[in-house]
Amino acid sequence: MQERTVELSGANHSLRELSSRLMQVQEEERSRLARDLHDEIGQLLTALKIDLQEVQHGEVGQAHAGALTDSLELVDHLLTQVRTLALDLRPSVLDDLGLVPALRWYANRQAKRNGWTLSLSVEGMAKRVPVPIEVACFRIAQEALTNVAKYARAKTIDLTLHRQDQDVTLVIQDDGVGFDVMSARQRAQEGQSIGLLGMEERVRLAGGILEISSTPGRGTTILLRFPLSETEPAERRRTAEVMST
Ligand SMILES: Nc1ncnc2c1ncn2[C@@H]1O[C@H](COP(=O)(O)OP(=O)(O)OP(=O)(O)O)[C@@H](O)[C@H]1O
Ligand SMILES: [Mg+2]
Repeated sequence: MQERTVELSGANHSLRELSSRLMQVQEEERSRLARDLHDEIGQLLTALKIDLQEVQHGEVGQAHAGALTDSLELVDHLLTQVRTLALDLRPSVLDDLGLVPALRWYANRQAKRNGWTLSLSVEGMAKRVPVPIEVACFRIAQEALTNVAKYARAKTIDLTLHRQDQDVTLVIQDDGVGFDVMSARQRAQEGQSIGLLGMEERVRLAGGILEISSTPGRGTTILLRFPLSETEPAERRRTAEVMST
């Protein structure tokens, strides 16, 4: 019995390591792809656009005015697509300026796209927090707001990001249709979705806690909290916690 327990806890540990490594590799891969898209493909398209504009202003341009206008429109469209793809993969603002500007940018973009009224409150975040926490907060906010856009039919989104003493807390609240958290988790564990499970895994790997509370008809609140000190009591690193009200 004791041997089996040791074996199981060893296997569990290896799985956790693997999952953490996978997320890290995924982030690195996204960063590389985003950079290549932006720097390589974006630059080439810009060069193509400049060439086409030159042709447009020359003699040949007059004879092929329609085709050139179409081509320039296509290049503009491609440039926009490439920029959006790069931003969705990994916004450079997250690496360069940190969580607050990245979250502000992303939430504003989503609010505009979906017609939400957004309120964003940030306190005590003048200094940057460790990168794994920044990335976890940003990715979870991305998934949470994507879910709101897909399912919630919300009008208002409240985002709060606070640093108090040695904790960082992010709360994402919508006033949409809500859902039954227990059955959504059940479906997720049966393999029907990965969003909620991915949130839990990210929070756990960055040493935090996650609470999801939702009431059908009354909206959803997602709270994440990360301790910032290195010497955090073990019980605070407990696995993600999901509550349904
Ligand atoms: N803010 C929300 N408002 C209403 N329902 C929600 C909200 N967030 C999640 N849900 C419900 O919880 C379910 C599980 O969410 P989850 O993110 O795991 O799955 P998904 O978005 O359907 O798929 P995936 O994220 O894997 O692409 C959703 O299918 C939806 O029914
Ligand atoms: Mg989802």
